[in-house]
Amino acid sequence: MAKKAEPKKPVAAKPKAAAKPAAAKAAAPKVVAAKVAAPKAVAAPAKAAPVRAAPLKKAAPVAAAPVQTAAPETVVKAVMPEAHEGVRRRDFINVAAASFAGVGAVAIVIPLINQMNPSADVLADASTEIDLSQIQPGQTIKTIFRKQPLFVRHLTPAEIVAADKTPAETLRDPQTLEQRTQPGKTQWLITMGVCTHLGCVPMGAAQGEVKGEFGGYFCPCHGSHYDTAGRIRKGPAPTNLMVPEYTFISDTVVQVG
Ligand code: FES
Repeated sequence: MAKKAEPKKPVAAKPKAAAKPAAAKAAAPKVVAAKVAAPKAVAAPAKAAPVRAAPLKKAAPVAAAPVQTAAPETVVKAVMPEAHEGVRRRDFINVAAASFAGVGAVAIVIPLINQMNPSADVLADASTEIDLSQIQPGQTIKTIFRKQPLFVRHLTPAEIVAADKTPAETLRDPQTLEQRTQPGKTQWLITMGVCTHLGCVPMGAAQGEVKGEFGGYFCPCHGSHYDTAGRIRKGPAPTNLMVPEYTFISDTVVQVG
């Protein structure tokens, strides 16, 4: 009976020993988890460091600035009063020199600007006053305006009618007599005496001169004919005789220009 119970003991001991390593393997992941948690503690101080250092560097230069600027003047006044007087004298000399330079520049520039203004004879040519009281109907006078010939013509009633009955829209340079004269003064035709083709002086202003096919002016250079309103009617001239700016300063005096 005792011999049969012995072989059962070693069989039961083997599975118990195998269970111990299994438990040891199960505990191993816990050690690994502890190693993984370690880097978190290292990362914490790296974030906190730049936050503390920034405000200390910015505050330092702001407090030092006013102390450096105020120091030299107080030291010069208290320790070296004569040197301080020298600084004042030098400032006065600098200001005085700058003032004299400014006055000198103005004194030079003003004459230069005045020199560019038109001279008295040019101003005299800029406008011309003409007395109309002596110009009879049918008569034309030739005068000078800005160094160019100027025609002042006193139209007769027949010449006004001849100008008005011509339809302006049929003309090369469409204009009515009213558009080329002052309101209520259609008898006074004032034009430049310069042909608009190449600048010749047309005929017809002086008594006895050829007035062309339309009773106004005739340019013999290339055969341009102007009517009694000074409008181009025939020939190569492209436009009417130019009407300058003018105003009546009285019933009998006109200012041209
Ligand atoms: Fe008068 Fe030519 S310049 S027609």
